[in-house]
Amino acid sequence: MKNKEHNSTGTSKDGRQKTTFSGNIGYVLAVAGSAVGLGNIWRFPYLAAKYGGGIFLLVYLILMLTFGYAMIVSETAIGRMTGKSPVGAFSSFGEQKWLKAGGWINAVIPMLILPYYSVIGGWVVRYCVEYLKGDASEAAGDTFFGGFISDSLVSEICFAVFVLAVFFVIIAGVKNGIEAVSKIIMPLLILLAVITAAYSVTRPGALEGVKYFLVPNFRDFSIMTVVAAMGQMFYSLSLAMGILITYGSYLKKDSDIERNTTRVEWFDTGIAILAGLMIIPAVFAFTGGDIKTLKAGPSLMFITLPKVFDSMGFGNLIGSVFFIMVLFAALTSAISLFETCTATISEELGLKRTLSSVIVLTVSLLLGTASVFGYGIWSFVKIFGMQILDFFDFLTNSLMMPISAFFICLLVIKVIGFDGIEKEVRLSSQFRRQPMYYVVTKYIAPFFLLIILASSLANTLGLITI
Ligand code: PHE
Repeated sequence: MKNKEHNSTGTSKDGRQKTTFSGNIGYVLAVAGSAVGLGNIWRFPYLAAKYGGGIFLLVYLILMLTFGYAMIVSETAIGRMTGKSPVGAFSSFGEQKWLKAGGWINAVIPMLILPYYSVIGGWVVRYCVEYLKGDASEAAGDTFFGGFISDSLVSEICFAVFVLAVFFVIIAGVKNGIEAVSKIIMPLLILLAVITAAYSVTRPGALEGVKYFLVPNFRDFSIMTVVAAMGQMFYSLSLAMGILITYGSYLKKDSDIERNTTRVEWFDTGIAILAGLMIIPAVFAFTGGDIKTLKAGPSLMFITLPKVFDSMGFGNLIGSVFFIMVLFAALTSAISLFETCTATISEELGLKRTLSSVIVLTVSLLLGTASVFGYGIWSFVKIFGMQILDFFDFLTNSLMMPISAFFICLLVIKVIGFDGIEKEVRLSSQFRRQPMYYVVTKYIAPFFLLIILASSLANTLGLITI
């Protein structure tokens, strides 16, 4: 291991005691808060429905337990051993250019995701208001969604409310902000998810949907099932976006990385499965088993689901519960994005945390406003044929994410070495899955990452359809 000396107390270079999570529970809930988000509730059910139901779920589970596990462990260990957010973490292993590039790409991704993620968060705010006002049938109207996202003023206000809420949590700090909020929100989120799923699966006609979602049918398998499940896994576990490195840097040396990783994996997957159980059976019951409706993609949660809620009894109540839950999930994910950006700026420019977070807020407001306008007064702007928000999503998740994950694997293989990671993990864990970690990181991950990158590119160029 040819890295510079790393201290083991979590103290930063200038001697200040680094902020840390108070313990395992706070850490797990904060990381799970980052992981559980729109990806679980909005993206997962739609992809599962599209790529074969049960078979997609099975492939996803296998990937999550192998690939996902290896990536979480790598990032967390890198964060904890360096005590730094991505740029500092990478460059603490040497001066080479590729290390700088690797650090920066990990750090820039969250700054590009945060603004558009918050715009979608703003849409969720809008739905919460509508349901809390008791307007379930209004929200189910054909023009409701299209109407307000093209109304730049309304969307901008909702977006600003969301981003400011996140900003105040960050200002409060790691322990008093992020950890405190996660400890309240995450248990509530589980409760709300269980209530909504239970309601959905007990609707008449819903059982067929449950079967489609849970029982694998090998005839539905295709190579795209693997590609889609892989992309989803990265997004859902917040991998390769600097987040787990940053949160890992706040982790105490005696916290069990392996056990915490397992908890986070199951937390995230559990909520994704519950979301599948909320949405797929409900839409099945609503449409009489029409799979085409389930493949509606982005509009599934914002357009189809409100119609389903409206047609069920207690539409206002269940709609409010559902969208408040989505709001919680989106908030904790946005918090992790904001925190990573704040940490990078304050460490790299030597600025105070408050000032750094004001900078992040400003950049988010600017870039996010561009995304808002992209659906409204700037709808004529197209980047590679995509609207501004979709372009940011594509750029970060389909292009930058596989590259940044590749850099992480490279850092582990070429610089830190498996012994280096093992030493860090074994400070507090048994590292039972070490052999699997080794094989996945060294042989499988780099190869799969190239496949994801190639398939995203081919998809954009219209060579294949994902
Ligand atoms: N993991 C989050 C989700 O499932 C999304 C996210 C992506 C959060 C990137 C942070 C960073 O919605």
